[in-house]
Amino acid sequence: MRKDEVLDPSPRDDERELDEQIRPHRLDDFPGQDPIKERLRISIEAVKARGEPLDHILMCGPPGLGKTTLARILAHEMGVDIKSTAGPVVERQADLSAILTSLEEFDILFIDEIHRLNHAVEETLYSAMEDFEVDIMLGKGPTARSLKIGLKPFTLIGATTRAGLLTPPLRARFGDMCRFDFYSPEELKIIVKRSARILATPVDDGGAYEIARRSRGTARIANRLLRRVREYAEVKADGAITREIADAALRLHRIDEIGLDDMDKTIIATIIDKFSGGPVGVNSLAVAIGEEPQTIEEVHEPYLIQLGFIKRTSQGRVALPAAYQHFGLTAPEGPQGALF
Ligand SMILES: Nc1ncnc2c1ncn2[C@@H]1O[C@H](COP(=O)(O)OP(=O)(O)O)[C@@H](O)[C@H]1O
Ligand SMILES: [Mg+2]
Repeated sequence: MRKDEVLDPSPRDDERELDEQIRPHRLDDFPGQDPIKERLRISIEAVKARGEPLDHILMCGPPGLGKTTLARILAHEMGVDIKSTAGPVVERQADLSAILTSLEEFDILFIDEIHRLNHAVEETLYSAMEDFEVDIMLGKGPTARSLKIGLKPFTLIGATTRAGLLTPPLRARFGDMCRFDFYSPEELKIIVKRSARILATPVDDGGAYEIARRSRGTARIANRLLRRVREYAEVKADGAITREIADAALRLHRIDEIGLDDMDKTIIATIIDKFSGGPVGVNSLAVAIGEEPQTIEEVHEPYLIQLGFIKRTSQGRVALPAAYQHFGLTAPEGPQGALF
């Protein structure tokens, strides 16, 4: 994946510090995802009244929409600690048992990319989630024996970008499933204004909206574009972000008015011109463009699909009428049109 990819929704190391600064800490401070927040508010109130931990929660959705942030907010709202790890990191059952036995009552264990847990570790999780118990192996070889250890009641929050890859037994052990949606430009505008306030950068409505509508429905991208525009405003103007400043800055980064960059445009142009609108497999597309198939699938396609510009079919990617329209072209009729 290219390091300079401004519109890549995955986290970057150089942004971590600033991320910490602008991450919301309370539900009321977290714009968007209203249906999820509403349900969680009720759950929090109910379990607090009953003196129980929150149910295990599965959070799914594309990167950069706030899954990690919301998990931390839940810990804060519940007044408990949160321990974080990730599917590929927990390699052995013993690693997981060590984390589980260190949890205090009602604490939250957050496992990112939970679909990437290996099978043995996942099985350990079953009894931990269901009965708050783990089997621990003592010794090695023929004299080894297992010992059941009771855990304090805890809440597991699993996050995944690929809910479809979760095994049915793991999925069944979650009491609640939160599906994150892309943010509307109005919601992203609120997020941009909030972050700008924390960064002490003046931004007017027009400036915030201009950033919001180019952020591909993604909070992480909105914050990243805000930083780029802020730099531009500081160097080229008096530091304040207006619509004109935001527009000029994002043009400089070659991001168009609906958040498409040059690679998105190349993908669509290639499907339409070189493959007569599709269907074309992602590998052939990748070769034609000179990009990794994974980058096309993870960075570019989700937003193009969300816009209704392309569709994934069993035979490959197809360009849809909205894509032709955006580029001032006429969508084909006949057998090709029938694929829509
Ligand atoms: N609703 C939101 N309001 C404000 N900022 C948000 C919101 N959702 C996410 N963010 C910000 O976007 C970035 C990515 O969020 P994160 O929780 O890491 O996403 P995910 O875990 O889904 O990939 C963080 O910097 C976070 O502060
Ligand atoms: Mg995350």
